[in-house]
Amino acid sequence: MSGFSIVEAHGIRKEFPNMTAPVLDEVDLTIQSGEIVALRGPSGSGKSTLLNIIGCLDGPTRGTYSLGGRDVSTLSPRERAWVRLHYIGFIFQSFHLISDHTVIENVTLPLYYAGLSRDEREARATELIERVGLSHRMSHRPAQLSGGEKQRVAIARSVAAKPRLLLADEPTGALDTKTGNEVMDLLLEMHEARSLTLIIVTHDPEIAEFCHRQIFLRDGKIITDGSSHASHA
Ligand SMILES: Nc1ncnc2c1ncn2[C@@H]1O[C@H](COP(=O)(O)OP(=O)(O)OP(=O)(O)O)[C@@H](O)[C@H]1O
Ligand SMILES: [Mg+2]
Repeated sequence: MSGFSIVEAHGIRKEFPNMTAPVLDEVDLTIQSGEIVALRGPSGSGKSTLLNIIGCLDGPTRGTYSLGGRDVSTLSPRERAWVRLHYIGFIFQSFHLISDHTVIENVTLPLYYAGLSRDEREARATELIERVGLSHRMSHRPAQLSGGEKQRVAIARSVAAKPRLLLADEPTGALDTKTGNEVMDLLLEMHEARSLTLIIVTHDPEIAEFCHRQIFLRDGKIITDGSSHASHA
């Protein structure tokens, strides 16, 4: 499964104004293409901050970060947006769907920005919505969907533009255990079908057990980084 380092971060430090201590402190992290990584740690330990840097939503205060072999730590916000559009998919705890868009409109939106024609957008979105089991919800709006359904739409949207890297920040955090496990299964399916690299922030040890590797953060530092003990055949 491994091929090359998709994520290569060295000496990452992140400071915010008015914070006395850095939120990330000398983080070194290498992730191989195709890995499934769980990012764990107490509230406030810096998980989302690290994920945002990996996802080019934010840049580090110091340190170097290469994504797919390209140094992205010094890009302008506009260049970072281009990298996000073409390389990275995001999934959030609170779904972040556009409330006045239908299911299909939510899934086609990134494809519009990626420059696909209307026919290509609709064909690809329809296929993905079928894949996540929501063909019967195509014209619904987010408010008409359950939490699990909303997250499945968000998953379809996140992979629509064929990213290499999929980042999920507590994707099951707002869901009950059964629905959360279904969402996790779907993420694993997407990983398998699309040879994605998957990084999942989670508080849930059960979800983390699905991952090849678990990284624990505390006070902005990686305290352990190792393979999951769970057999993951
Ligand atoms: N934009 C910001 N400005 C100032 N401080 C911030 C900002 N973003 C995060 N922080 C601070 O950085 C620390 C780490 O936040 P982060 O959101 O990365 O934690 P987390 O591990 O994701 O926590 P949780 O499990 O609660 O989501 C916190 O103390 C937070 O208050
Ligand atoms: Mg967080």
